[in-house]
Amino acid sequence: MSNEKKRMTTASGAPVGDNQNSITAGQRGPVLIQDVHLLEKLAHFDRERVPERVVHAKGAGAHGYFEVTNDEISQYTKADFLSEAGKQTPMFIRFSTVAGELGSADTVRDPRGFAVKFYTQEGNYDLVGNNTPIFFIRDAIKFPDFIHTQKRNPRTNLKDKNAVWDFWSQSPESLHQVTYLHGDRGIPATFRHMNGYGSHTFKWVNHDGEAFWVKYHFVSEQGVKGLDEDVATEIAGENPDYHTEDLYNAIEQGDFPAWKLYVQIMPYEDAKNYKWDPFDVTKIWSLKDYPRIEVGRMVLNRNPENYFTEVEQSAFSPAHFVPGIEASPDKMLQGRLFSYSDTHRYRIGANHEQLPINRPINGNTSNYQFDGQMRYDNGGRSINYEPNRYETAPKEDPDTKVNPFEVYGNADSVYYSEADHYTQAGDLYRLMSEDEKERLIKAVVGHMEQVDYDDIKLLQIEHFYKADPEYGERVAQGLGLSVPASVK
Ligand code: HEM
Repeated sequence: MSNEKKRMTTASGAPVGDNQNSITAGQRGPVLIQDVHLLEKLAHFDRERVPERVVHAKGAGAHGYFEVTNDEISQYTKADFLSEAGKQTPMFIRFSTVAGELGSADTVRDPRGFAVKFYTQEGNYDLVGNNTPIFFIRDAIKFPDFIHTQKRNPRTNLKDKNAVWDFWSQSPESLHQVTYLHGDRGIPATFRHMNGYGSHTFKWVNHDGEAFWVKYHFVSEQGVKGLDEDVATEIAGENPDYHTEDLYNAIEQGDFPAWKLYVQIMPYEDAKNYKWDPFDVTKIWSLKDYPRIEVGRMVLNRNPENYFTEVEQSAFSPAHFVPGIEASPDKMLQGRLFSYSDTHRYRIGANHEQLPINRPINGNTSNYQFDGQMRYDNGGRSINYEPNRYETAPKEDPDTKVNPFEVYGNADSVYYSEADHYTQAGDLYRLMSEDEKERLIKAVVGHMEQVDYDDIKLLQIEHFYKADPEYGERVAQGLGLSVPASVK
C-alpha cells in the first residue's frame, strides 16, 4: 500500500461520506432505502463467493518462472518456450488436494494437484497434473461417479468409506493408484516436497512435423518427503492450512522452491507395440525403456498479492496447448479437454480468460469471440466476423494446424484391450522397503476397517492378492479375513 491518503468511494466512484453509520430516520431508525452506499455494500457482499471448484477446491498458488536448461529439447518439439537453453517463461502454479472442500485440511491422504500455467509468447500452456504419475480410472465417462465416492454421501453428508471401496473394488484399474496413494507419497510433507507429473501421455511435434509421445516429470529439488499418518491427522486438527502456510512462508522468506522438469520421450511408432498401452493413464512407462531427459527448471519466487483474484479465479485447462504440444488419444485426457473450460465458464464466467491471472501475455487475444457478461475488451474492433476483406483483421495461421494423425477401427464403446491391472501395482508394492510396506498395509487396513460390507473387502483383497500374494494376505490378515480360496 502506498502512503498516499485515499478517499473511499462507492463502486461508481463517488465519495463515501459515512462508512460506519447507516442513514436512519432519526435516532432510532428505521433505515432509509436511499442509503445507496449501504445497499451497494450489502449487495456486493452477498455476491462475494464464486462456486468452489467441483474438485481440487482447497489449494495454494505461487508465481515463478521456468527456464530451459537443455538445447536438445527443440529436436522433439517446436514449442517456442522450449526452443533454447536459457529461455525463461513466467508461470503460475496451483497446488491442491482433490476431495475436500475450500476450507478442508491440507494434510489428508489424497492426491495433490500440480497445475502449471506457462505464459508463453504463443499463448498459455497449461499442464494440469497431479503429484502422481498415474490415475484411478482411464475413461472420463467414469469420472463423475468416481468423484461422487470421494465426496459426501448424499443422505448423511458424511465421507463414505463404503462408497470409496465399493467403487475401487469394482474398478480394478484403480489398484495401481490406490497402492500409490496409501504409500508414503500419499500425504506429502509439504507442497514443496513432492514431485509433479503430467500423468497423461501428450504429443510433441517438431519443426519437421515429426511427432513423439511424451510424459512430464517435475522432480522436487527439496526432495520427496511424506508425513506419517498419525502426525498428519494431528496437524489437520491443529493447523488445517499447514501446506498453504508452508508454501507462503518459504517464498516470503526467500527460500524459493524449485523443480527440475524431465520428459520421457517415446518415438511415435513405438506406441503401437509397447508392452503397455501408452495412452492408459493407470500405467507408467518404464524409466529403463524411456529414460528421463532434462528439459528445464521451475522456480517459485513470488506469492500472490491477492488470493481471490489470482488463486481462486485462476483457470487451468488441459485444452490450453501451444503449437508443438498436442493431445494424445488418452480417453481421460480427451474428456478433460472439454470439462475444464466448461467448468470455468460456469464457475467464473464466459470471459474468464480476460482476467489478469488467465490472460495470455502475448498481447490481446485476437479472435471473433465477442461480448458476454463482464467483457471489457473486444480488441477495439467493430468487425466481428471472418472471413473478411480487412488485411489487418486477425487471420488463421495454417502453420499452427494440429499435426494430422491416422485413426482406425469401428466407432463403438470400446473396452481397453489391456486388462492387466495387477503387474504394475505389484511392482510398486515390491519396490517398497519393508517399513514402507508396513505403513502401506496399516493405511489400507485403517481405511478398509471402516467399510461395513465384507463382500467389498473380500473383492478388494482379491485385487491386492493378484498384484502380489503377500500384499493380499497381509491386508486380509489386518482385516481379520482370509483371501478367498477362488483366487489362490
Ligand atoms: C480440477 C475435471 C481428471 C488434475 C478439475 C476441475 C474439474 C476437473 C471440473 C475443476 C476445475 C476448476 O474449477 O477450475 C476432471 C475430469 C477428469 C479429471 C472430468 C477426468 C476425465 C484429472 C486428472 C488429473 C487432474 C487425471 C491429473 C493428472 C486436476 C487438477 C485440478 C483439477 C490439478 C485443479 C486445477 C487448479 O488448481 O485450478 N478437474 N479432472 N484431473 N483437476 Fe481434474
